[in-house]
Amino acid sequence: MAKETSRVESGMSLDFAERMSYGDYLKLDTLLAAQSPLSDKQDESLFIIVHHVQELWLKLIVNELEFAMQNLREDKAGIAFKALARVSAVQEQLITAWDVLSTMTPSDYLTFRDQLGQASGFQSYQYRLVEILLRAKDQRMLAPHKHRAEIYE
Ligand code: HEM
Repeated sequence: MAKETSRVESGMSLDFAERMSYGDYLKLDTLLAAQSPLSDKQDESLFIIVHHVQELWLKLIVNELEFAMQNLREDKAGIAFKALARVSAVQEQLITAWDVLSTMTPSDYLTFRDQLGQASGFQSYQYRLVEILLRAKDQRMLAPHKHRAEIYE
């Protein structure tokens, strides 16, 4: 019988009772507790997770755009271009994520769409932040966020 190979190598840390683990560092408990479907429909988890992934990518875009703009102000074009190249790579991810979403048919989507009420990506404040950072400022687009002062500001 083939000898069972173990991927646990000697010297590997296996006890994380007293030290920071991968999950601690990434706050995985918080991140993975954030997907809360309102229906019992299988496809709603896909819908939520794809939105979460997109919002995380949008967060990275905002981060990199602000960094690029700061470096452009300091005439550090090389550093700014590196950040903008990263933004472009993230945009590729935003686009390819639709390949995953499109495994859900319109009729699948309609099985839980009513649960969403008026909620829509139209209210994505990070999407608006990206638009504003790229100088597409439309005051009306901020209205859905008026009730959240810290976001509106
Ligand atoms: C089944 C999937 C989806 C459907 C049916 C859908 C539907 C819509 C619709 C109808 C709008 C127009 C505004 C409205 O009428 O509310 C919209 C806007 C928007 N959606 Fe989605 N969406 C989907 C997935 C996503 C995903 C995964 C994201 C990622 C964050 C997203 C982000 C946005 C954004 C940012 C807008 C505003 C666009 C703008 O104002 O220019 N949507 N969506």
